[in-house]
Amino acid sequence: MNTKESYAVVTGASQGLGKALAESLAQKKINVILVSLPNQYLKEVGQEISEKYNVKTHYYEVDLSISENVLKLTEWLNQSFNIHILINNAGLGGTRKFLDASTNYINTILQVNVMATSLITHQLLPNLLKQPQSYILNVSSMAAFSPIGFKTVYPASKTFIHSFSRGLHEELKNTNVFVSVVNPGAMKTNPDVSKRIEKQGFLGKLTLLDPNRVAHYCIDQLFKKDSVIVVNPISWLFMQILPIWIKLPLMTNAIKKEIGV
Ligand SMILES: NC(=O)c1ccc[n+]([C@@H]2O[C@H](COP(=O)([O-])OP(=O)(O)OC[C@H]3O[C@@H](n4cnc5c(N)ncnc54)[C@H](OP(=O)(O)O)[C@@H]3O)[C@@H](O)[C@H]2O)c1
Repeated sequence: MNTKESYAVVTGASQGLGKALAESLAQKKINVILVSLPNQYLKEVGQEISEKYNVKTHYYEVDLSISENVLKLTEWLNQSFNIHILINNAGLGGTRKFLDASTNYINTILQVNVMATSLITHQLLPNLLKQPQSYILNVSSMAAFSPIGFKTVYPASKTFIHSFSRGLHEELKNTNVFVSVVNPGAMKTNPDVSKRIEKQGFLGKLTLLDPNRVAHYCIDQLFKKDSVIVVNPISWLFMQILPIWIKLPLMTNAIKKEIGV
């Protein structure tokens, strides 16, 4: 396959924020390549988006926790498409005592959140640089702004994404590739996340966001070249002004309710 049109790539696109981001792009008549884990009905999601918005879609099913798979994905993308938008949305976390975490749990979070984002960006950058104007949007989290007990690895991985994005933005600022990062707070994107957020009580509910609204706002701000997209300004402000000795125990206490500790 060799298509001349330009495409946007969205990872974690079968559901949740990733699907909403893909739909927001399609609404603007941008062709999208959807990437997700296998068996997530990605083909159907692609067909649905294609028919609803009259754009071209392609899909690729892959476990991004394995670096060899990531390189096969980027090789396929580079050989077949002009890419002018990359959205690194795939990412996962969880809440548990660090001692109870399996090696697989730790490895998957770091591989998907940190390694896959870095590798995909690195491998697609030459393709993005060839287009007249390109955009990269990395999905971090509000959790990037404070360490959190019982989450430990996830917030650290999202701090990496925030720092990586801002560094790359600065490095590429005189090129045609614009780099942006978004740090959303809690969104009810799937039943598991919803259950966890409900258990957090008041703090979780206070900051709750609708993934469709977040997606639309992110795409609008990306095209306005906003390098740090703020979707919930009140939480953002709190995270910036609260000293760590207040926010670290505050967040940890809210989060540990998820696992009844
Ligand atoms: N939900 C929230 O409250 C919240 C808050 C702040 C930040 N975020 C961030 O927003 C992004 C999307 O979150 P979400 O809640 O919509 O997703 P989710 O329902 O938590 O699902 C996890 C995401 O990661 C992808 N993924 C997980 N393991 C993968 C693997 N091994 N290989 C490939 N893809 C994998 C999934 O894609 P598929 O299911 O399509 O395969 C999905 O996009 C993530 O980066 C998350 O950290 C979420």
